[in-house]
Formats: sequence, C-alpha cells, structure tokens
Amino acid sequence: MSTTEKPGSQVISPRGSDTAAGGAPRATRLQAVRGMNDVLPDEAPLWQRVEDAARTVFAQYGYRNLRVPVVEATALFVRGIGDATDIVEKEMYTFADRLNGDSLTLRPEATAGIVRAAIEHSLTYERPQRVWTMGPMFRHERPQKGRYRQFHQLDAEALGFEGPDVDAEQIMMLARLWKALGLADVSLKINSIGDADDRLRHRALLIEHFERHRDVLDADAERRLHANPLRLLDSKHPPMQEAIRLAPRLIDRIGAPARAHFEGLTAALDAAGIAYEVDARLVRGLDYYNRPVFEWVTGALGAQGAIAGGGRYDGLAALLGGKPMPACGYACGIERLVLLLREQGATAHDAPLAYVAHAGDAAARMALAVAESLRDRGHAVVVHAGGGSLKSQMKRADASGAAVALIIGDDEVAAGTVTLKPLRVAAPQSAVAVADVAARAASYAA
Ligand code: HAM
Repeated sequence: MSTTEKPGSQVISPRGSDTAAGGAPRATRLQAVRGMNDVLPDEAPLWQRVEDAARTVFAQYGYRNLRVPVVEATALFVRGIGDATDIVEKEMYTFADRLNGDSLTLRPEATAGIVRAAIEHSLTYERPQRVWTMGPMFRHERPQKGRYRQFHQLDAEALGFEGPDVDAEQIMMLARLWKALGLADVSLKINSIGDADDRLRHRALLIEHFERHRDVLDADAERRLHANPLRLLDSKHPPMQEAIRLAPRLIDRIGAPARAHFEGLTAALDAAGIAYEVDARLVRGLDYYNRPVFEWVTGALGAQGAIAGGGRYDGLAALLGGKPMPACGYACGIERLVLLLREQGATAHDAPLAYVAHAGDAAARMALAVAESLRDRGHAVVVHAGGGSLKSQMKRADASGAAVALIIGDDEVAAGTVTLKPLRVAAPQSAVAVADVAARAASYAA
C-alpha cells in the first residue's frame, strides 16, 4: 500500500505499525497463522465432550497419562517417521535454535516423542506400560475442511507388549469411544504389513511391478520407487490406480509369525463383535509400522475421512537407540471427531446454573455471598459484573444460557430473600429464602 492511496489508507511498516494518513501510528491487526485455528468458547464444549469421553475410556483400560514436549530434536522425527515420508519430506515445522543452531521441530505426531521418553526414563524396564497423551501436532499441509496445520490428537500407546491382545484392545477402546460419543457412520479397515524381512521380499516385487508401469508414475512415485516403494500404494494419482490395484499384495506374502499375529487380532475382533474390512492397500503414512495397521474412517467428512489410525511399531525403539521394545498405538484427530459430531447434529453447552443480577451496593455484596454459597454446593454461577440496569442484566442472564436468574435489589436485601426467575421454562418468579436458593435453582437445572 502507499500513502498516495485513498484517505485513511494505511502503510504497514516492517515493525508492524500502521500509519493512518496524517495521523498517529496504529498497530496493524495481527491474525492467526493460516491453518492454525482458534477454538472459541461456543465451540469448546464439544471439544471438551470429546476429551472427557477419551479420558474416561483411557482410564477404563488402564492407560496412564504421559506428557511429552511439543518441540523435539528434528532427528527424532526423521529417524522415527522415516525420511521418505510426506511428513518428513515436506510437512515439518523445522527451525534452528537461535542460541546453538540445534535443529528443532514442532512435533508432527506424538509416538516418536513418547518412545523417546520411554527410552530416556527406562519406563518399560520393570513392566510394560499403557500410556496416553493429547495435544497439538503440527504439519505443513494444505489446509482444508478436516485438515489443518495445527491440529489435535488423542493418542494411546501400549509399550512393551507383544500382542495381539493389546492390538485388539486398542481397537476396542476406539469402538467404545465412538459409542460413548454417539458417533455413527464410522468403519474399520485393517491390514498387516508383515515383518521387516516380509517387506524386504515384497519390496523387490513391488519395484519390479512398478518398473513395468513406469509410464503412469508421477514425480513423487518416481522418487520413492527405490527409496520406499510401499508408499506408492498410498498414491491418489489417478493414472496410477490401475497399477496399484494390480500390485502384488503384501498381506498375501507375510511370514508365519506375522500371519499368526494378524489372525490373533481378527479372532479377538470377531469375538468382540467389531466389524472390519481387510484392506490390502492400507499402508499408513509413517514408516515405523510393522504387522497390523488400522484406520477408522467415515464417509461423512469428504476427503479427510480418517478419524483415527495406528498399528504396531515393534522396531521403533531400537531405531531411536533404545533396546528392542514391541509396541502398538493409535491417534485420533480431535478436529475430525468434533466435525463429525456437528455433522450429526450434536450440540454441547457449558451454561451456568444461575446468573445473579443485582442493583445497589448492599445487593452487590449479597450477590457475591449467595453465589459463593451455591458454588460451595458445586454449582456454576455467574455474577453480573460491569453495572447496567436490571433489564440489561436480565438480557445477559438469558444469553448466558443459565437455568435461572437470581435477582437481588434493596427489597431482597431487607427481606433476606432472593427473587428466583426460571429462564428456560414458563414458570412464575418467586421470593426464595437464601438458605433454599441452591435447592430451588437446582430443580430447574437442564
Ligand atoms: P496419523 O494417521 O498420521 O497417525 O494421524 C492420526 C489421525 O490424526 C488421523 O487419522 C487424523 O484423524 C488426524 N490428523 C492427521 N493429520 C491431520 C491434519 N493435518 N489435520 C487434522 N487432523 C489430522 C499418527 O499420527 C500416528 N502417530 C498414530 C499412531 C500412534 N500410531 C501408533 N501410535
């Protein structure tokens, strides 16, 4: 912009202040970074419902909370997730620490950090551990509905377990979470990508196969053909689809131990009554997996239909410099669960039980005391602040979603009563003795 533009136009200086033409400097308005969203108070109750339900399910299965940093050494993700993956090749937020030049990365996922922490603190030295975490992850993807640059995951990891019982347990946990949230239209896909030597044998077959179909490969596939041919199966490039369909299936070639593991998992799912589809093309976007992998998908969110994904990663601990440790885990995208809940018409609110309106100094003091006595009984109460007429206070009371308004003026102070007005049902207001307010208000709770 330039100062010769229309009057009132602003110049953005490098320091971020505007100069209103002919006026004093004014700071430019800053905005959230693209793909990184605010969760506003009206939206947060559905998030909290998801998080609360997840905490309950984690506890029900004996998973304990482990919190790892949002920033880790870049090498952790390069080694853990794999350098020929989309995440490591193009999606990481990586920067140099200004003080010592160390390369650091905002975590794109939680598993690598959790395994690092397990190794660093010898967590599985005495016994295996079931752990969970939740929080923000960062991937520099093209934002669209259900896909963001800062997003949030619920994550569970079973460290030091051979399976397949814990593999099945984790899928059952998710089925329980969907049930607790009332989610419909979700289905389960599973696959086995075998053990390392199975993949090595299959790798040679895949390279041979795709070399015969070189004419349909896009640039990504060309580059990965020798580095990571399994990832070609994940390509959405339309001309490659037929070659992908005809590609040799890894699950048909896995060795006896991986097959027995997979059969153990499917038998447990059958016994639990959990329906699944075996999808030989399910390869996941991170390289640490072996044996069973799975995804829960929905048709209701368009292209971003994966609401949870996971699998076994028995080789990851050794890759990160620890002792070998069998393990499996999963993560769910909270944004996608919230979107799906909204699609299904779910609402949630965090309205208080009572909103206290008051007029006069003595009434203001009584309002605080009455509110405290209700809070002593565990109720949520908002006391009007900021002055204004009783009429305007009642508008605020209504907008707060409270079940009742408690009105206190000089008359109430003199009588030692509160005027209780139900806000959500047609019922007359009445004078209530202070000692009875909590019980009467609670009788109107939603
Ligand atoms: P993932 O499949 O990359 O796996 O991510 C898990 C879930 O996170 C996805 O199914 C999706 O719901 C959500 N998600 C991923 N990327 C985005 C995004 N850009 N925007 C919104 N939601 C997203 C992992 O991250 C593994 N660490 C899972 C795991 C845990 N495997 C073993 N343990």
